Amino acid sequence: MWVYLLVLLLPACGGRAFNFLGTVMTFYPNETSDDTVVLRYKLAFNECDNISVLECPFANCLLTVVSVDRVDEDSGGEWCLREVVVLVNTSSSKLFELRLTGGQWINVTNGVTDVLAVTHVDVRNRSSVSRANSSPVTTMLPILRVPSNCSMNWTLLTFDPDGDAVRCRFEDITSVLGLSSSCRLTFSPSNNSVEGAYAIQLLMEDFPLQNITVTNGREVDVLGNRISQIPIQFVLMVVPPVASCDAFSPVVLNTTAANGHFFYATVNSTVRLPIFAQSLSVSELLFCGPSSMNKTITEGRFELSWRPSDSDLGRSHPVCFVIQSTGESENNLQSELRCVFVVVERVLAVLKAGLISQGSLSMEFLREVFLPQLRTKLVEQGWPRSFTLRLGNITLET
Ligand SMILES: *[C@@H]1O[C@H](CO)[C@@H](O)[C@H](O)[C@H]1NC(C)=O
Ligand SMILES: *[C@@H]1O[C@H](CO)[C@@H](O)[C@H](O)[C@H]1NC(C)=O
Ligand SMILES: *[C@@H]1O[C@H](CO)[C@@H](O)[C@H](O)[C@H]1NC(C)=O
Ligand SMILES: *[C@@H]1O[C@H](CO)[C@@H](O)[C@H](O)[C@H]1NC(C)=O
Ligand SMILES: *[C@@H]1O[C@H](CO)[C@@H](O)[C@H](O)[C@H]1NC(C)=O
Ligand SMILES: *[C@@H]1O[C@H](CO)[C@@H](O)[C@H](O)[C@H]1NC(C)=O
Ligand SMILES: *[C@@H]1O[C@H](CO)[C@@H](O)[C@H](O)[C@H]1NC(C)=O
Ligand SMILES: *[C@@H]1O[C@H](CO)[C@@H](O)[C@H](O)[C@H]1NC(C)=O
Ligand SMILES: *[C@@H]1O[C@H](CO)[C@@H](O)[C@H](O)[C@H]1NC(C)=O
Ligand SMILES: *[C@@H]1O[C@H](CO)[C@@H](O)[C@H](O)[C@H]1NC(C)=O
Ligand SMILES: *[C@@H]1O[C@H](CO)[C@@H](O)[C@H](O)[C@H]1NC(C)=O
Ligand SMILES: *[C@@H]1O[C@H](CO)[C@@H](O)[C@H](O)[C@H]1NC(C)=O
Repeated sequence: MWVYLLVLLLPACGGRAFNFLGTVMTFYPNETSDDTVVLRYKLAFNECDNISVLECPFANCLLTVVSVDRVDEDSGGEWCLREVVVLVNTSSSKLFELRLTGGQWINVTNGVTDVLAVTHVDVRNRSSVSRANSSPVTTMLPILRVPSNCSMNWTLLTFDPDGDAVRCRFEDITSVLGLSSSCRLTFSPSNNSVEGAYAIQLLMEDFPLQNITVTNGREVDVLGNRISQIPIQFVLMVVPPVASCDAFSPVVLNTTAANGHFFYATVNSTVRLPIFAQSLSVSELLFCGPSSMNKTITEGRFELSWRPSDSDLGRSHPVCFVIQSTGESENNLQSELRCVFVVVERVLAVLKAGLISQGSLSMEFLREVFLPQLRTKLVEQGWPRSFTLRLGNITLET
C-alpha cells in the first residue's frame, strides 16, 4: 500500500496558524485516462487569502494539482471554503492511502489540534460494474451551529456511483454528537453539550452488496468488505441557549427541494436551485457545492445557479446549504441542513410533445403515466431501449 502526503501550506504571516475547519474528500476514476484518478476535495479555513496546496512533498509523488477554487464564504468571516482538484497517477498502484496533513484546527474544546484526513483509495477494476471503483459521494458545510438547549438532526448525503451500501462512523469518539450507521447526526442537550467549537471527524465507507472481484490488471482479489473510505471533517458550534427551540432559527420553507432531491442538468446550460426561506433580509444562504456555482437573491428567494462544464459530465454533484442569520453576533443561528444532488447528463435529443386533456394534469401524472407511455411509443418506433426521458419546460395553453 502506497502512502502519499499532501501538505497544506499555511499563511505566510509567520508561525503556525490555527485556522483549519474541515475537509471532505471524494475520488473517481478519470474516464479518459485509465491510469489517473481524480481526487476532488473541499478545504475550509478561517481566511480566504494565501492558502495554497503543496503537491509532492516527497520524492516519487504522483500528484498534480489541477485547480484550487473558492466555493463560498460566510459574511461574518468565520470560514472560507475551497474546492481542490488533484489528479493522481495510479500506474504503479491502484490501492493506496492519501493523507492530508500539515495544518492545525481552529481552537476547539475537544482537544483536536493537528490536521489528519486519510482517504483510502481503491480504483481497481470491479467485476460488478466492469470499471474502476469510485468513492461514495457526499459533502458538508464547514460549520454546523446549534443552541446548547435544543435538539437537532442532520442527515448526510450518501450516494455511491457503484451501487454499494454506504455507512458512516466516527473516526474518534465525540460525546457531543450521535451518529447512526446511515449517516444521520443527532444533537441533544445534556451536560456534555457545553458551548464551544468541536472538531467532528467522520469516516464514510462503501460496502459491496455481495462479494465482488477486483483486479489491478495483474492480481485478482475477492472483496466482501469495505472498499473505500473518505474523511468528513467539520466544526460543530454549540451556541448559547435560545428561548424557544420551535422558532429559534431561520427556516427553509417546504417549497424548497427536499433533502436528497435529484436535479438534472446538462453541460453548458444553467441549472437553477430555488431556495425559499423566511426573512431573507436578516439571513444569508451558505452552501457547499461545485466551485463555479453562484448564489443570488432574486424575486424574494435565494437561488443557486450552476453551468456545468464538460468535465462535470456523467456524475452526481452534491450540494448542501443552510440559511444562517447574519450579524456580528457569535450566536448566529442556522436552519436545518438541506442537501441535494445535481446529476449532469448527456442530452441526445429534445422532444416537443403535446398533450390534450379535459381535466387538470398533475406533475405526478406526467412523470408516472405520460412519460412511460411516450417512452413505450418511442421504442416501438425504433428508438434504442437504453435512454431516459425527463420532463423539461412545460407550458399550458387553454
Ligand atoms: C498574501 O501574500 C502576499 C504575498 O506573500 C502578501 O503581499 C499579502 O499581504 C498577503 N495577504 C494576506 C491577507 O495575508
Ligand atoms: C504515470 O506515471 C508513469 C510512470 O511514471 C508514466 O509513464 C505515465 O505517463 C504517467 N501517466 C500519466 C497519465 O501521467
Ligand atoms: C488558540 O490556542 C493557542 C494555544 O493555546 C493560542 O496561542 C492561540 O492564541 C489561540 N488562538 C485563538 C484564535 O484563540
Ligand atoms: C474493467 O473490466 C472490464 C471487463 O472485465 C473491461 O471491459 C474494462 O475495460 C476494464 N476497465 C479498465 C479501466 O481496466
Ligand atoms: C431527530 O430524529 C429523531 C429520530 O427520527 C426524532 O425523534 C426527533 O424528533 C428529531 N429531532 C428533531 C429536532 O428534528
Ligand atoms: C447534569 O449535571 C447535574 C449535576 O452534575 C445533574 O444533576 C443532572 O442530572 C445532569 N443532567 C443531565 C441531563 O445529564
Ligand atoms: C465472501 O467472501 C468471504 C471471504 O472471501 C467468504 O468468507 C464469504 O463466504 C463470501 N460470501 C459470499 C456470500 O459469497
Ligand atoms: C433554553 O434555555 C433558555 C435559557 O436557559 C430557557 O429560557 C428556555 O426555556 C430553554 N428552552 C428549552 C426548549 O429548553
Ligand atoms: C408546507 O407547509 C404548509 C404550512 O406549514 C403546509 O400547509 C403544507 O401542507 C406543506 N406542504 C408540503 C408539501 O409539505
Ligand atoms: C461546452 O462549451 C465549451 C466551450 O464553449 C465547448 O468547447 C464544449 O464543446 C461544449 N460542450 C457541450 C457538450 O456542448
Ligand atoms: C457566476 O458568476 C460569474 C461571475 O460573476 C459569471 O461569470 C458566471 O456566468 C455565473 N454563472 C452562472 C451559472 O450564473
Ligand atoms: C483525465 O486525465 C487527463 C490526462 O491525465 C487530463 O488531461 C484530464 O483533465 C483528466 N480528466 C479530468 C476530469 O480531470
